[in-house]
Amino acid sequence: MNARLKFSDSLNLIRSFKTSGTITPSSKVLIKTLLAPIDFTSARCIIELGPGTGCVTRSILERMHADCVLICFEVNSDFIGQLEGLQDSRLRVVNACASSIRTVLDDIDIEEVDHIVSSLPLALIDDEVVKRILESARSNLREGGRFLQFQYSLSNYAELKPIFKKVKLDFTFRNMPPAFVYECTK
Ligand SMILES: C[S@@+](CC[C@H](N)C(=O)[O-])C[C@H]1O[C@@H](n2cnc3c(N)ncnc32)[C@H](O)[C@@H]1O
Repeated sequence: MNARLKFSDSLNLIRSFKTSGTITPSSKVLIKTLLAPIDFTSARCIIELGPGTGCVTRSILERMHADCVLICFEVNSDFIGQLEGLQDSRLRVVNACASSIRTVLDDIDIEEVDHIVSSLPLALIDDEVVKRILESARSNLREGGRFLQFQYSLSNYAELKPIFKKVKLDFTFRNMPPAFVYECTK
């Protein structure tokens, strides 16, 4: 029975690799670098794209203000129960593609958001969908808000540059695999 469990776990990992681009959760150092530009004392609405099993989500919830809302967009329904299990009244989990930000914000009457934190595997997502996601992220951010994204290569750097006013690049070896972190300002 144990062996069967391990086999099905491996199958799930391989299956989720196709949409996640990794089989290990982000490291504490990567998460700290990713979230560093956010002023958590003033932020009142944050979006997370691609939360997976919630390692970045938990760090955002730990840091954010009692009146701040966190809206997570995750396409893999296998992760939704785990995210909802975090049981935090400030958290909303949406089982939808990151390109549907505007529809979800309209439903809950929110005009714009302070910051968007993304672990999306941009290199694995169709170019047209990436374009829609980045445009939607920019248009739903407040002026001066940040779009924070990490990636294991620089493959989408050129797409971010024309969309945002400023794109700052950081890098950490202390993740498996090492990662680039983009801080994009609207
Ligand atoms: C690299 S994993 C990140 C997991 C976790 N946030 C971390 O940092 O370890 C990427 C996640 O993005 C999700 N994802 C992929 N494409 C997506 C899309 N178009 N919209 C929303 N989530 C997506 C995947 O299902 C996966 O859970």
